[in-house]
Amino acid sequence: MNDIPVIAIDGPSGSGKGTIAQKIANQLGFVLLDSGALYRILGIAAHKANIDLVLHEQVSNLARGLDIEFGKNGPGSAALDGQDVSKEIRTNLGSDLASKVSTIPQVRESLYYRQLEFKKAPGLVADGRDMGTVVFPDAKLKIFLTASVSIRARRRYNQLIDKGIDVSLPDILRDLKERDRRDIERSVSPLKPAKDAVIIDCTDLAIEEVVDQVLRLYYCENS
Ligand code: DC
Repeated sequence: MNDIPVIAIDGPSGSGKGTIAQKIANQLGFVLLDSGALYRILGIAAHKANIDLVLHEQVSNLARGLDIEFGKNGPGSAALDGQDVSKEIRTNLGSDLASKVSTIPQVRESLYYRQLEFKKAPGLVADGRDMGTVVFPDAKLKIFLTASVSIRARRRYNQLIDKGIDVSLPDILRDLKERDRRDIERSVSPLKPAKDAVIIDCTDLAIEEVVDQVLRLYYCENS
């Protein structure tokens, strides 16, 4: 188990982590963990069950029993209780609910164990906020991706528009700043680079340049 390599990719919303993690996992033939999707699905599940997010015990019980399946309806898809929620979890509501449930300590504990299950041969690329600091502290390579808030908002806007989700750029920018604040200020597993993470500012880098840089670092670690 311990010799299964993990590449942890952390960073704020819209830094391009998701796309970069997916490309690296494809190139290496590794399993991909999109940990943000777990928080997003939980947020939507709580919303559907009419659970008030201040009821921490109820939300964490829901997290423990969550019936989730990734990839059922194609690559990158997500299902909750057998129903496709791929689009729903990417809406602004999905982002907001995820950001809120992720501040609940008991929720993070429940989802911690689920995340460990993704560590399978031949290796794992784990994308999130606390992959290198909390969930996979022994990761072979830890990357922390950053980018300016305006470029992150623009990227998220383009992504959502491409998916046919109707949004406005000023709304995305305002929500992104609010989620950054929540991610950084929460008491449990706040967003911060691990001490041994390589920090990559990708404001002015193309996705492929970042992917190449991460793969070079990974092969360096392995040589
Ligand atoms: O990466 P994302 O935008 O899909 O994440 C959605 C939310 O989940 C975001 O507000 C932060 C939270 N999250 C977290 O707290 N820890 C993780 N490992 C991944 C995401």
